[in-house]
Amino acid sequence: MWQATTISEARAQRGGLRGTVAFVPTMGALHEGHASLIRAARALADHVLVSIFVNPTQFGPSEDLARYPRTPGQDLALCTAAGAAGVFCPTVEQMYPGGGPTPQAASRPACLVTVPALAGVLEGAFRPTHFQGVCQVVAKLLHIVEPDVACFGRKDYQQLKVIEAMVEGLNMRPRIVGLPTIREPDGLALSSRNRYLDAEQRPRAAALYKALQAARSLVEDEGETDPAAVESAMRTELAAHHVTAIDYAALRHPQSLAVLDCIEPRLTGGVVALLACHLGPVRLIDNMVLGGKER
Ligand code: PAF
Repeated sequence: MWQATTISEARAQRGGLRGTVAFVPTMGALHEGHASLIRAARALADHVLVSIFVNPTQFGPSEDLARYPRTPGQDLALCTAAGAAGVFCPTVEQMYPGGGPTPQAASRPACLVTVPALAGVLEGAFRPTHFQGVCQVVAKLLHIVEPDVACFGRKDYQQLKVIEAMVEGLNMRPRIVGLPTIREPDGLALSSRNRYLDAEQRPRAAALYKALQAARSLVEDEGETDPAAVESAMRTELAAHHVTAIDYAALRHPQSLAVLDCIEPRLTGGVVALLACHLGPVRLIDNMVLGGKER
């Protein structure tokens, strides 16, 4: 497996590949969820390329950029074992030459991409510049790697919708594929931030999955049509597990993320339940598509 740290090295390695390329962008601290993305990507193309880059522009000023876990040795071993052909691990200076990572600090004019209708709600309401940073780095990576397919976890559901909209809206070439969330036995979605959970918080973190299952049961088994009733049931389930610091517990249209007046999964292709909660200093997100094809 090759490793490139500069854009020119990555382009040269990419240019030498015959056949199709699937791309898995990551921020490192890789876990079984990433390994499953890489393995799934192998079935979609002849070669799989991975990027590992903790992208500063998608972190807010008070977020965890400085302490975001960095495990480069383990990450490369995981990529090799999962069957990646190459890994691109650029420096911040490679990706944002000429200055600081924020558009304000950079000495060169920043080029930004936004999907305003999707980026300002839910996560965007709490992390106002997050998706602008995600789009900025993903657009750059797609231009550098030039994949045929790019794979993203459905765990970051809103990110997936924003990237799909960016790629479609800008006529970018790669096909975007969303892949299933991998969960611990108690339902907690795998995330690089789970390692921040302490022994008291870890069991409580399964409450997010329990709340999503409660939403699923109401929509799919009981035919509930009132979004407010489902949102309230999710909050009740979270509170039962002493998770009370909730940024949102929302039921939305699965593509537009618009607020729904009524739950009609057959008309909308399902609905999506989305959660963001704090357990002490750890912020966790999760989601589930209800009444649709994806599970
Ligand atoms: O999902 C992530 O790990 C990141 O947001 C991504 C897509 C690699 C962009 O930095």
